[in-house]
Amino acid sequence: MIAIGSDHGGFALKKELMAHLDNIGVAYKDFGCYDENSVDYPAVAKEVGTAVVSGEYEKGVLVCGTGIGISMAANKIKGVRAALCNDYFSAKYTRLHNDANIICFGGRVIGPGSACELLDVFLNTEFEGGRHQRRVDQITAIENEQ
Ligand code: RB5
Repeated sequence: MIAIGSDHGGFALKKELMAHLDNIGVAYKDFGCYDENSVDYPAVAKEVGTAVVSGEYEKGVLVCGTGIGISMAANKIKGVRAALCNDYFSAKYTRLHNDANIICFGGRVIGPGSACELLDVFLNTEFEGGRHQRRVDQITAIENEQ
């Protein structure tokens, strides 16, 4: 089960991503927003991030205009590793090396075709573990020090 959310700047792309998830038979819950009216992205990031770290949702997807603000906000939540991905290499390696649990897109940056492909790579790539686990643990240690 995927948790997905956007602000108004990512709303159109989020709709395309949800249609893609429907097509490939992946279940999701939409945490808003639900129309093009302006909303503040930190609130949506908090909802989706909290849902993912609770363990109820396997991974998350967040979309704002650039993908930057919503990823910054999500990464403030303990246990979230949100990655803004505009290219194949990033989408693949943030799973392999960072065990990213949320992928972020910029709805005003990337087209739906590319974003859907990147989402597929993100969902279908497993974390490599090993030396990368040590580094992810170091990220967690920083969180715990704050
Ligand atoms: C909203 O206008 C825009 O600032 C937001 O979607 C995002 O791009 C922030 O990082």
